[in-house]
Amino acid sequence: MSLSYHNPQRTARSAALYPKACEVIPAGVNSTARARFSGWDPYPLFIDHGTGAHLFDVDGNRYVDYLLGLGPMLLGHRPPGVTAAVVRAIQERGTVFALPTEDEARLAHLIIDSIPSVEQVRLCNTGTEAVIYALRLARTFTGRQKIIRFEGMYHGFADGVYWSKHPDLREAGPDDRPVPVPQGPGIPACIGEQLIILPWNDVGALRAAIEREGDNIAAVLTEAVMCNTGCILPEPGYLEAMRELTAARGILLIFDEVITGFRLHLAGAQGRYNIRPDLSVFAKGLGGGFPVAALGGRKDIMSLAADGTVSIAGTYTANTIAVAAALAALEELRAPQMYQQLNTRCERLYSGLEQIFQDARMPAYVVGVGPVMQVWFAERAIRNYRDAIRHASHTRFRRWWEGMLNRGVLFHPHAFENLFVSFAHSDDDVAATLDAAKATVADMKAHG
Ligand SMILES: Cc1ncc(COP(=O)(O)O)c(C=O)c1O
Repeated sequence: MSLSYHNPQRTARSAALYPKACEVIPAGVNSTARARFSGWDPYPLFIDHGTGAHLFDVDGNRYVDYLLGLGPMLLGHRPPGVTAAVVRAIQERGTVFALPTEDEARLAHLIIDSIPSVEQVRLCNTGTEAVIYALRLARTFTGRQKIIRFEGMYHGFADGVYWSKHPDLREAGPDDRPVPVPQGPGIPACIGEQLIILPWNDVGALRAAIEREGDNIAAVLTEAVMCNTGCILPEPGYLEAMRELTAARGILLIFDEVITGFRLHLAGAQGRYNIRPDLSVFAKGLGGGFPVAALGGRKDIMSLAADGTVSIAGTYTANTIAVAAALAALEELRAPQMYQQLNTRCERLYSGLEQIFQDARMPAYVVGVGPVMQVWFAERAIRNYRDAIRHASHTRFRRWWEGMLNRGVLFHPHAFENLFVSFAHSDDDVAATLDAAKATVADMKAHG
């Protein structure tokens, strides 16, 4: 029997559920990244359940899961400690009070203890919200309007930042001075006037923009590792230069650690690379799979929310489910040796994959840091979004993705997403992944 994703025998129930869902839900899914046009073609897999590092689709197929819900399932699916804490919170306490609980301050202490740059913290529900508030604080604190953000990054879907994530290069201006491109219609054009879009990993472009417009720039908003155009690492000295150039002109440095926070290190990418931003946002690594985000940083900036100068609100913020989940997750993440063991397992996976590509003489390489990685099918190093557009092969990535999926290894079909390793992945999962990779690469070679 063919193992093709398209084989109705293998994914018959997903195939049947999809058109029915499309009748009542636009695109049949509840987020862009799950849509057919985002790569889940001809239909997304419909999932029945997950457990640990594995997902089971509605046809009973089992996958080693590197999608991890696009990041939140850092502790694996249904981590027992987090699940028990959430069930206890619901059954014994309730969910939303519109008044504070003692646990919120306990959680704030744990976050502050984990991340040296965070002196005070507010909870939010999603990364998108946390970014909105970070920018509002930055503009108020500095009295300036403009924000620098980088082509190829994603900071949530708010109108203020949903620009130049993956723009069409025909509209995006010159390489060293990109122009803002809204990520689709419906976003007011005037917002673009408040944005300066730059290529990432380019100290010269950043320096020039700051020299040109420094007095109008409130903040530089960046991930410390570019995780929304595959995985692109900061070049040596880049983050340090960013810190220096911003500090010299009174511009705030905001790290978007929605993906990297609590994942690359207990103290996030900033802990791994030893950089101290002024503000940071955290989300996917924080809640053990439950929706919770946090915005934190310097007390003199955060205190703008103390007297209501800057409003940070939300009916569901710090609900007991979110707080219980984050407390339980952080208690696990703070256990000794956690990250060391995870990194060792990831290294084994990444070097195993590299070896397979090398043995097959396939122009592909792995870029990974901690448990975030991607494979680039490219002949040369990718250092920013435009490199990825120009030099990475999506056709090869697609064949790689299908081959792996059909061998029971699941990740997102788009090369600009990531593979995420969880604390629940075992040595056996790594071995199964490498076996699948060997067979997939052999197949790709055999068929040209
Ligand atoms: C770096 C980054 N920032 C912000 C967001 C938005 O987070 P959320 O989906 O929780 O709103 C994402 C989501 O993928 C992200 O990757």
